[in-house]
This record gives sequence, structure tokens and C-alpha cells, in this order.
Amino acid sequence: MSHFPPQAGMDDDGPNEVFAELNSRPLGGWGLAQIAAGTGLAVYAMWVGVLQPGFRKVPLKLQVPYIPASKTQVHNVMALLRGRQGSLVDLGSGDGRIVLEAHQHGFSPAVGYELNPWLVRLSRFHAWRAGHREEVSYRREDLWKVDLTKCKNVTVFLAPSVLSLLQEKLQAELPDDALVVAGRFPLPDWKPCRIEGHGVDRAWAYNMHAQRQQALKKNNTHSDRDIEQTREEGSS
Ligand SMILES: C[S@@+](CC[C@H](N)C(=O)[O-])C[C@H]1O[C@@H](n2cnc3c(N)ncnc32)[C@H](O)[C@@H]1O
Repeated sequence: MSHFPPQAGMDDDGPNEVFAELNSRPLGGWGLAQIAAGTGLAVYAMWVGVLQPGFRKVPLKLQVPYIPASKTQVHNVMALLRGRQGSLVDLGSGDGRIVLEAHQHGFSPAVGYELNPWLVRLSRFHAWRAGHREEVSYRREDLWKVDLTKCKNVTVFLAPSVLSLLQEKLQAELPDDALVVAGRFPLPDWKPCRIEGHGVDRAWAYNMHAQRQQALKKNNTHSDRDIEQTREEGSS
């Protein structure tokens, strides 16, 4: 019951009457355009303000959106890491789920690098809630600038458009005994030593030593072919 007496001229303006009037009016093209523009603006504001802050200095072609790994994907990544130990780094750690899970599987230190400050905060909250705030770390850093020379275990779930460049970084920096696990999208030119799962939850493991041997073999085959070709050209 209302404590205010109805006032003259105002009793037609209650929320029910307003909704009833809106419902009875046809929307029309202009109305639809306004709704579309409003929705577009809200999505854009959400993208700029919540999902993509921290990316202003990252070139557009290297920007990767946040999509959390599925539970099965995390499970597959962990299955490929079985038997491994030591440090683990998740490049583009999102809400921190891989890092937290890795810590719970005994990896230490377990570190996530993430540019989006909201996701870094969310990761820390998740770690605190799980009672592991002190044991995992989430750093707000550009993954392309992280020094990987001492990393033994690396996990990634990034867009296919950046994976060729990532291969180069991993090849140049990781120690020979490192293992790389890629979720959802495989590294385009590398040969996995193991694969786990199916469809969007699939994960691929790459042994750094085997990878370097393979790259060496490929280079040798290319130079043998070049020598052969030069010889043939010389004799003709
Ligand atoms: C597809 S999500 C994966 C998130 C998480 N690793 C997981 O598996 O749930 C990719 C993440 O990488 C982050 N990211 C993209 N480019 C980055 C960069 N240059 N440096 C740090 N983080 C980056 C994005 O903000 C996003 O959270």
C-alpha cells in the first residue's frame, strides 16, 4: 500500500501504465535503430572498459580476447603435464584457472601473465578464495616481454593469429628440457609429442628438445637440397 496520496494528474504515470503504453506503441524502424545503437554502444563500452584495458600499447594484430578454458580443456592440459614438475607459466592467464590448477598439481612457482587488470584482480580473488593466495602469482605484464629462459613448463591458450610469432619466441628462449602445452589451438608448425582430448577441449604438448632437433633436421634437408641444386646448375 502506498503512503502517499494520489496527486491530481499523476495517477496515470505509474510504471504499469508506462509499460502498457510502451507495449501498445509500435516500435518502428527508428525505434529499432535506437535499440541496436544502444546495444552496440553497451557492448563496445563493455569491451573497452572491462575486457580490453591494458591493451592500448599492444599492436592490434597481437590482441587476443579473453575466453576462459573449459573444465575439460583444463583437465586435458593437466593430463599432458602429468609427470612434470618445477615452475609453470601460463601466458595470457585470463581468470587464473590454469595457474591455480597447476599449483594444486604441485607446480611451483606457478605464475600467470595477464595484461587485463580486471582479470588479474579476479585471478587473485580466485586464489584467495581457494586458500592459495600466497602460493600462486598473477602479474600484469605483456606476455611478449616476459623472459622465458628459465621456464620449464609453459601453457598457452591464445588466438591462432599469434601462434606463429609465439613459436619463434618459445624456440628462441625456452630451455631444451621445457614442455609447452597449447590448449584449443595447436602451434602451427610444431610436431606435438602428445595430444589429449577432442574438439574445442583438445590440448597439444610439445617437447622443446625434440622440437629443436626437428627444426635442425628441416634446415639440414633444405641446405642439402640447395647444394644439390647448385651442383646441378653448375654441371649443366
Ligand atoms: C583465450 S584467453 C585464455 C585465458 C586462460 N589462459 C585460460 O586458459 O582460461 C587469452 C588471454 O590472454 C590475455 N592476453 C592476450 N594478449 C596478452 C598479452 N600480450 N600479454 C598478456 N596477456 C595477454 C587475454 O587478456 C586473455 O585473458
